Amino acid sequence: MHVLGIETSCDETGVALYQEGGGIVWEDLYSQVDLHRPYAGVVPELASRDHVRRLAPLLRGLLEQAPEPDVVAYTAGPGLIGALLVGAALAEGYGAARGIPTLGVNHLEAHLLAPLMTAEGPDFPFLGLLVSGGHTLIVGAYALGDYRVLGTTLDDAAGEAFDKSASLLGLDYPGGPALARLAASGRPGKFHLPRPLLGRPGYDFSFSGLKTALLYAARELEPEDESARADLAREFEEAVVEVLTVKAERALDQGGFSRLVVAGGVAANRRLHASIQDMARRRGVQAWFPSPGLCTDNGAMVAYAGWRRFRAGEWCGSGEVRARWPLGESRFTHGGGE
Ligand code: KG4
Ligand code: ZN
Repeated sequence: MHVLGIETSCDETGVALYQEGGGIVWEDLYSQVDLHRPYAGVVPELASRDHVRRLAPLLRGLLEQAPEPDVVAYTAGPGLIGALLVGAALAEGYGAARGIPTLGVNHLEAHLLAPLMTAEGPDFPFLGLLVSGGHTLIVGAYALGDYRVLGTTLDDAAGEAFDKSASLLGLDYPGGPALARLAASGRPGKFHLPRPLLGRPGYDFSFSGLKTALLYAARELEPEDESARADLAREFEEAVVEVLTVKAERALDQGGFSRLVVAGGVAANRRLHASIQDMARRRGVQAWFPSPGLCTDNGAMVAYAGWRRFRAGEWCGSGEVRARWPLGESRFTHGGGE
């Protein structure tokens, strides 16, 4: 059995084919990052239009060169409503034309399940730390579709904080990876930024105050002082990484989990990787990170999540999409675009 996965929730157009028992056998991705760079953020209307332009050729390439799909899975939310609709329309159209089942996949679930795709991947139950441009969640994942959100961000997502702070430091969009590169040459302890909500019980996050603190510190920098900019980037990165690591450790402890899955674009961050692995080793817990290409948005994770859902008896594609679709609401029962 082959499951086609289509991802169009934000600014990447992704297609992939997952073969039962064989893994991903085809994958293609188009990133709109150059399109949105002049605006320093994703412009929803431009994103939708570009998905219209890019998705059909990507899909054609797959259909010409890979085995025929038996099921079509597409991201049905959460995400940009217009962008989601492009993927849903093409997926449903293709499914109807071929007379094969379709299903709408939750983008957050797809991120979380990505590390389960490999033979060495974890099984349920696990604690999930999902850190992306749009989301920051700590989730107890007990079984497929049985998720409990333990904490979330009260304002900016972790990746969003990286991107906005990078922009304040004069770095190009999308700033997360650029800030991490700059931080690599920074010295520790040269600045002090807050660790928001670190001392507060629970698993919620807040990153907007950290970004404001960075703004004030950045204003004091001499324009030519590259090394101070790197020091500040380093402190920002350390603050985010510390908060994420400590909250994940607390949730592991209190929830009694022995497995941790870190997913989403920020999971590609090296310092986060090192800090989480270090904490996991100390606690005797195993931690999984998807490979870098599977951390950011892609079609492969959608194909895989679609396959898991299909095997669990779901094929409920309706073409409906949801801008908001909380992970806890695992089935697509509250339909309707929002
Ligand atoms: O998962 P993703 O592709 O998109 C969403 O679903 O939101 O995540 C993209 C986010 C961006 O904010 C980007 O700056 C961040 O992940 N990111 C990073 C790194 N690589 C990507 N943040 C910090 N360090 C990185 N190495
Ligand atoms: Zn994502």
